[in-house]
Amino acid sequence: MGVFRIRWFFALLMFGLFLPMKPFVRFSMAETKISAEEIIEERNCRRCHTLLGKGGEVGPDLSEVGARRDAEFIKKKLLNPKSMHPGSAMPPFRGTEAELDILVAYLSSLK
Ligand code: HEC
Repeated sequence: MGVFRIRWFFALLMFGLFLPMKPFVRFSMAETKISAEEIIEERNCRRCHTLLGKGGEVGPDLSEVGARRDAEFIKKKLLNPKSMHPGSAMPPFRGTEAELDILVAYLSSLK
């Protein structure tokens, strides 16, 4: 009997640990969008670009940039704006490779 009780105890313990984790697994897709939005806020892209209704007009509106430009173009543009448009006022992106990937995936999904 004692062995069964211990097994039940562990089964319940594992269940109790797993249940609170579930929302994190389910919402991890939405998080990609949130962190791209956070990077955009942090790097002040809206100083020059309108994105989904908010921001400046120095550069083009990025709300549907994925319909005009592919991921490769966007990545090159972020890393070295002058290589795409000599004399560009846009500063090159300074951040981690992971942040760059999130940003590129997000922007190219805007169609
Ligand atoms: C100082 C103003 C400025 C800032 C800040 C800026 N940009 Fe730009 N961006 C521009 C301008 C101007 C262009 C138009 C092309 C050119 O002259 O480089 C442009 C072009 C782009 C393009 C290409 C759009 C197209 O349709 O070809 C993308 C993508 C882009 N910017 C993303 C960003 C992101 C993401 C950030 C923030 C990390 C950012 N920009 C910050 C000024 C800026």
